Amino acid sequence: MLTNLQAQPEDKIMALMAMYRADPRDNKIDLGVGVYKNAQGVTPVMRAIKAAEQQLWEAEQTKAYTGLAGDPAYGRALSGLVLGNAVEAERLALAAQPGGTGAIHQAAELIKAANPDATVWLSAPTWPNHPAILRHVGLAMGEYRYFDNDTRGVDFDGMMDDLKGAKAGDVVLLHGCCHNPTGANLTLPQWSELIALMQDSGLVPMIDIAYQGFGDGLDEDAAATRLVASAMPEVLIAASCSKNFGIYRERTGLLMAISEKADQTALTQQNLSSLNRLNFSFPPDHGARLVTMILEDDALRADWMAELEEVRLGMLGLREQLATELRARTGSDRFGFIAEHRGMFSRLGATPEQVAKMREDHGIYMVGDSRLNIAGLNRTTVPILAQAIAETGV
Ligand code: LMR
Repeated sequence: MLTNLQAQPEDKIMALMAMYRADPRDNKIDLGVGVYKNAQGVTPVMRAIKAAEQQLWEAEQTKAYTGLAGDPAYGRALSGLVLGNAVEAERLALAAQPGGTGAIHQAAELIKAANPDATVWLSAPTWPNHPAILRHVGLAMGEYRYFDNDTRGVDFDGMMDDLKGAKAGDVVLLHGCCHNPTGANLTLPQWSELIALMQDSGLVPMIDIAYQGFGDGLDEDAAATRLVASAMPEVLIAASCSKNFGIYRERTGLLMAISEKADQTALTQQNLSSLNRLNFSFPPDHGARLVTMILEDDALRADWMAELEEVRLGMLGLREQLATELRARTGSDRFGFIAEHRGMFSRLGATPEQVAKMREDHGIYMVGDSRLNIAGLNRTTVPILAQAIAETGV
C-alpha cells in the first residue's frame, strides 16, 4: 500500500529551514521562517508565559479533556483581543485550533461544507500554505493582484479590479495585518473601499491574523479586522498566538465564524465542534490556557503587552537601520519601503538568482521570492545583510 504514495510538493519555507540547518558555516544568518529572535539570536519564552506556566503548574488539578471547541474562556479572551467590541457575542462561533494553520484548515473545511462551489481568492503573493491547504481540501482558487513589484507597495487598483471578477458567495482571503510575505498593507480607507465592494458583490471575507501586535500596535493591527467584522454579515477569522505570545510549538490558534444573525450561531458552532472532532477531537489546551490566564490577569496582561511592544519597536528599529544602511551603501532611496512595511516580513524584490547568490556567498537565508524575516535580524547582522544586498546588485 505505502509504495503507492506520491512524493508531496515541498513547502518552500520548510525546505529552506532544512537547508539552513545543514549549512556548517558559523556566520550564516537565518531570515527564512517567521520566528522572532532577540539580539542574542534566541527565540525567548516571554516573561508572562513563564509566569503563567509556573502558576499553572502549581494550580492545575487535571488534564482531563476540555470541550471540543476548547475552553470557552479561551475563545472569549482571544476573540476579545482580536475583535474588541466590533461584533455581538451572540453572532460569534468559536473553536480553538492547533495554531493559525489549524484555523485556516478548519475554515477551509467549513467553506467546503457550506458552499463547495465557492472560489477562494488569494492575494498574489500569499503565504504558500494558504493555496496548499485549500488545494488539499478541494476548494477552487482565484488570485487577486496585491503586491506591486515596482513600488513595493499594494497594487490596490489591480486588487479591486480582480475582485470584481468574484461571484456572490466567493471567499476573499485577506491578511488582517502585517501581510505575509510582502509586509505591504492596505490603509484603513482602502479597507473601507474593499468592504463596499465585498458588500455589493456578496463576497465573504476570511481574515488570517497571525501577527497582531507586530505592526503598529495591538489595537492598530486589529483595526482592519474589526472594521470588516462590524460591516459584513458573515466573516471567518483565523487567529494565531504563535508569534505575539511566542508560543510557536504550543500550537495555539482560534477560528472565529461570524454569522449574519444570532439564531444561526448554534448551527455554525455545532459544525465547528464536529470538524474538530473529525480532525483531531479536542484541540491542544496548554498554550490556550496560558493565553487565557495572561489575558484575564491585569498584571500578566500588562507585562505581556510591554514585552510585545519591545519586540515590535525592536523590529521597527531594525527596519529603519536596514533602510539607512542600504541608502548609504547603494546611494539610492529605493529600499526606503523597508521602513514603511510592517510586521515580520518584507519582500526585497531580488531575483531567485540573487537570493541564491546571497545564500551561497554570504550564508544569508531568505525565501526564494526574496521574503526577508526582519525579526531574524539584529543590530550586528543588519550591516552584513545590507552589504550583501548591495554587493549582489539587488
Ligand atoms: C512563516 O510564514 O514563516 C510562518 O508563518 C511560519 C510557517 O509556518 O510558515
